[in-house]
Amino acid sequence: MTELSGLMSELERTLKPYRGDFPSFGKLPSGQVARAQVADLLDRLAGTEESRWREGFASGAVYHGDPDHIAFLNHAYAVHSQSNPLHPDLWPSASKFEAEIVSMTAHMLGADHAAPDEPVVGTVNSGGTESILLAMLAYRDFARERRGIERPEIVAPVTAHAAFDKAARFFGMPLVRVGVDREFKADLGELADAITDRTAVVVGSAPGFPHGVIDPIPQIAALAAERGVGCHVDACLGGFILPWARALGYQVPPFDFELAGVTSMSADTHKYGYAAKGTSVVLYRGRELRHFQYYTVTDWPGGLYLSPTFAGSRPGALSAACWAALVSIGESGYTEASRRILETGQRIREAVAATPGLYVLGDPLWVIAFGAEEGLDIYQVMENMGHRGWSLNGLQRPAAVHMAVTLRHAQPGVAERFAADLADSVAEVRANPELRTGLAPVYGMAAALPAELVRDVLTAYLDLLFEV
Ligand SMILES: Cc1ncc(COP(=O)(O)O)c(C=O)c1O
Repeated sequence: MTELSGLMSELERTLKPYRGDFPSFGKLPSGQVARAQVADLLDRLAGTEESRWREGFASGAVYHGDPDHIAFLNHAYAVHSQSNPLHPDLWPSASKFEAEIVSMTAHMLGADHAAPDEPVVGTVNSGGTESILLAMLAYRDFARERRGIERPEIVAPVTAHAAFDKAARFFGMPLVRVGVDREFKADLGELADAITDRTAVVVGSAPGFPHGVIDPIPQIAALAAERGVGCHVDACLGGFILPWARALGYQVPPFDFELAGVTSMSADTHKYGYAAKGTSVVLYRGRELRHFQYYTVTDWPGGLYLSPTFAGSRPGALSAACWAALVSIGESGYTEASRRILETGQRIREAVAATPGLYVLGDPLWVIAFGAEEGLDIYQVMENMGHRGWSLNGLQRPAAVHMAVTLRHAQPGVAERFAADLADSVAEVRANPELRTGLAPVYGMAAALPAELVRDVLTAYLDLLFEV
């Protein structure tokens, strides 16, 4: 427990200056704070945070980040900032943007292979989690209504994103987790055994968040089709990279609607689609599944109510910015961006492999997970990287760390800095093998403690985030 409390002190340490050194507003100011003063405060706050992600110290997080691109997205946002797709009569442009975002994403992901009576359709949502939640809800209600399953289940590899756990909990759907093989790909035998007459949907990731490994999607899709269940491919990370990786000659097995068994996909425009944060696309083969995520109310005194996703009012400005990103970057831009990311991914992978005591997990392309030999604490390596400015992602079961390569890392010198800092961080752990600081003991303990205890600490962590 004391080790876990380290999580809280780390967070307190991070948040303290933001609660103390800047003007704070626990209540509305009685008068007005001048706009110039507010703008100055906003600028100063952003200024303290910007350099780390801009200079390429963060795993994932900011996927493009060039100042020109950001200014362009900001313009799109600014001119559409009042737009709300809930009111298509007022903002038909928002509907145009969203229809075209869905269509462009669908065509990038194999929609041309779909039968004319089952076109690939979808919606624009707030992020990968919402896309996954919506798809799982649609499968649940489809399974209940069309297949007579009382308590429909999700079958997913342990590596599929935590959003599937969230869906399971929110929608009362049992989640059957299956193992992965030595390459961290879904174990097909276990997956086949887990599919029952209660299964609504089987999940594969392209690639999965933890290890950047692509599940055997052709086999999963074939299995799903054979057993008459849905197959959701989570391409939140890979949707905007894999099509171009293939065009560049990388070995990418089929993973999208090209495969007849794939019935839905999630692809995040706010990651490698290079849109501003807050958009993602969920796609379905055929309109029928999409209808199960819609919500309509016919007898409400407030009028006839209809909404395609979880939110009611939605930020049309984010859809405008997303549309602007897709159109301004285009196939050639995405191909070039993917080339730079994949080449940098290879360099990061080589840097890990060249560091004695570390090894790469699986056979990843640009999300590079690595572990450490017995006796070398990988979490302390992560912590020491943190002291050098890096923000990497801690993984567990097995203990590992990952680096999701973005365009920020493709800047000159970043991969070299990563390699040098990684070597130094490992050397430091070897020099002080007993020393555990910051989050290292937290991660070290979390896997060994009862889940309830860890959950309580995580809940307290979330509480702390909302304290003024
Ligand atoms: C494979 C995968 N799926 C889903 C998600 C969830 O996306 P979001 O954080 O946008 O909700 C992520 C996020 O990293 C992801 O990597």
